[in-house]
Amino acid sequence: MDTKIVRTDSEEARTHAVGQAVAELRSGGVVALPTETVYGLAADAFNAEAVAKIFAAKDRPRFDPLIVHVRGQKALKEVADVPQELKKIVRSLTELFWPGPLTLVLPKNENVPDIVTAGLPTVAVRCSQHEIFGEIVATLGRPIAAPSANRFGRISPTSAAAVASELGGRIPLIVDGGACARGIESTIVRPLPPTETSKGKATLQILRSGPIGSNDLKRYAHLEMVANEAVSENAPQAPGLLASHYAPLTPLRLLEKPEDFSPDPDKSYGLLSYRGKKKDGYVKLHDWDEIEILSPGSGKTSEAALRFFFLLRQLDESGVDEIIAEPVSEFGVGAAIMERLRRAAIQEDRA
Ligand code: TXA
Ligand code: MG
Repeated sequence: MDTKIVRTDSEEARTHAVGQAVAELRSGGVVALPTETVYGLAADAFNAEAVAKIFAAKDRPRFDPLIVHVRGQKALKEVADVPQELKKIVRSLTELFWPGPLTLVLPKNENVPDIVTAGLPTVAVRCSQHEIFGEIVATLGRPIAAPSANRFGRISPTSAAAVASELGGRIPLIVDGGACARGIESTIVRPLPPTETSKGKATLQILRSGPIGSNDLKRYAHLEMVANEAVSENAPQAPGLLASHYAPLTPLRLLEKPEDFSPDPDKSYGLLSYRGKKKDGYVKLHDWDEIEILSPGSGKTSEAALRFFFLLRQLDESGVDEIIAEPVSEFGVGAAIMERLRRAAIQEDRA
């Protein structure tokens, strides 16, 4: 199959791209679309056969449920039945963070085919802030199921070129909306009703860390971290958030302490540096074959996030024998980067 990449860098090109994407979705096809987090592989969420094509193109196991994207707060009811006791917290979160990189796990309604949720009684819902995505979902007039547009378990794509290298030849169309502004997938939370211990507040289980951090959420709810536990205990809390994920084909090691590095003289190494500063100890540690710097100078974790998957992919394609990753500050979205680095370092189940 030929994969067409359509541009959106002029008014005319954009109208044409939106039209092509909507036509493909209406006819039960899949198409890769930009979002503010990472590129997604989209299909009409109410068309089970179309959704099956997402799983096939990604080699994604059917037990791993997809995120459904809606037009906005009002369209939430098209896919979820929000119970009375969660109405308040869901209203607050969607008013505050939608459109934006926050995904809510809620009881699903009967419109959503089982293949989307992998048979779970819940559905993960989000509303993308990307203008082109917003235009497409509004024109289609139906919710869009879209996981990240990479092969299962691999590095998420943050550009149209990265989608092409993951899924080229497997999908008909990629809408090129430029580089993703956030660069890291949405934060996933499961709202739960208030309990005695949560002091009257709703609880939010954080199933995946992302651009909306615990500091942004803790004012509105009692927080429970499930995301990092899943890494350390390997206990299945949220499907797909476990074993090896976000993984380069090249082995990756998260080097918590520079003094733990004892290079093999026969091997080549690439460094994924946080700030690229000599005094941090990582840059001068070794005569690196490749160095990529996440946040040169500023150390801003938001900058590191938007460059993260892009630079990880560069190192993966550079041909080094091993990627050594320096820890980043856990401030803000830094926690989400660290969660992904820990998963990327898990070697088991790697293709
Ligand atoms: O930013 C994002 O969220 C991107 C863009 C494209 O929207 N999408 C994305 O989708 O990251 P994906 O499929 O790569 O990750 C979705 C995660 C999976 O790990 C899946 O297991 C989990 O969400 N998930 C989906 N439905 C769930 C549910 N009902 N309960 C728990 N976890 C769920
Ligand atoms: Mg993914």
